[in-house]
Amino acid sequence: MNIIVIGASGFIGNHIYTMGKNDGHLVLGTTNSKRNIDLVAFNMVSDEIKNILTLNFTTDPANTICIICAAISKIDFCVIDNVYSEKINVHATIRLIEELSSLGIKVVFLSTDYVFDGKDGGYSEEDHVNPITEYGRQKVKIEKFIMDTSSSNLIVRLSKILGDNQDYLHPFSEWYKQITKKETIYCIKDQIFSPTFVGDVYKGIIALINKRCTGVYHLANSEIFSRERLISLFIEKIGMKTEIVEKELKDFYFIDNRTLKSYLNSTKFQNEVGLNFTKMSDIAERFAANAVQLRA
Ligand SMILES: NC(=O)c1ccc[n+]([C@@H]2O[C@H](COP(=O)([O-])OP(=O)(O)OC[C@H]3O[C@@H](n4cnc5c(N)ncnc54)[C@H](OP(=O)(O)O)[C@@H]3O)[C@@H](O)[C@H]2O)c1
Repeated sequence: MNIIVIGASGFIGNHIYTMGKNDGHLVLGTTNSKRNIDLVAFNMVSDEIKNILTLNFTTDPANTICIICAAISKIDFCVIDNVYSEKINVHATIRLIEELSSLGIKVVFLSTDYVFDGKDGGYSEEDHVNPITEYGRQKVKIEKFIMDTSSSNLIVRLSKILGDNQDYLHPFSEWYKQITKKETIYCIKDQIFSPTFVGDVYKGIIALINKRCTGVYHLANSEIFSRERLISLFIEKIGMKTEIVEKELKDFYFIDNRTLKSYLNSTKFQNEVGLNFTKMSDIAERFAANAVQLRA
């Protein structure tokens, strides 16, 4: 398979890029602002995809997919600079999808549980979207555009994604920094999600592509955690002590809203590909072992 990863310098994109290459696929990854000799410079706003693709990708579109990982993914930033986030997350993304479609390349768009309002939790693909954040509203615009214009593309909704090392910003790496500085960890009370290992995102997407799946899929671990329970598990595996304090959402003074119960029901995905998701306790253990190695 030929895989184009737009946003291969980001957390999820970089894992997809690396795992794809390790699996023997032909992978082209892009970066916007980072210097990285392995990645190709590509700005979604000003550049055209056809100008960075080598012949291998354009002559075999049926065997080529483009996974769009590039986005402004910080929830508050989407409001702070709404014009810029809308430019990237909506206008430039639509332009990119149109260009890929004209080249006959299948699009995999990474969406989010934030398309839901988080009042009930356990959302399936059939549930109505009702975003309560600007970030979620921008994702819904792209989902609608994809569904209205093509039946061959794939929308993969994710919940919170975590890794097993400190290389990128994700909840485990953030909490680890706080634990080592002996800081109290404050977390939103009653926030429940389906945290998923970043490596499973890659495996899940490849499995969906191999099964020729199109439309919307929820790719999320079936384990459900409150923030407090996940932090407690992480602290136990790290073997260091720190204080955890739960606070009401309103006491965080976030600029935009946050969802409370946005965990996803991934039965449709499971029925299709039957992937065994990595347990959060295993990821926390691996993170702890990697951290020990790095300190040694
Ligand atoms: N992480 C999660 O827990 C999570 C959960 C649900 C959904 N998602 C979705 O999954 C996707 C990937 O998330 P992530 O956490 O990996 O994001 P991330 O680490 O913030 O990476 C964002 C990527 O977007 C690229 N980018 C930003 N502006 C660009 C532009 N103008 N042109 C081209 N590329 C641009 C960045 O490139 P440079 O760094 O080179 O500037 C970077 O590679 C996003 O769509 C996000 O909404 C993530």
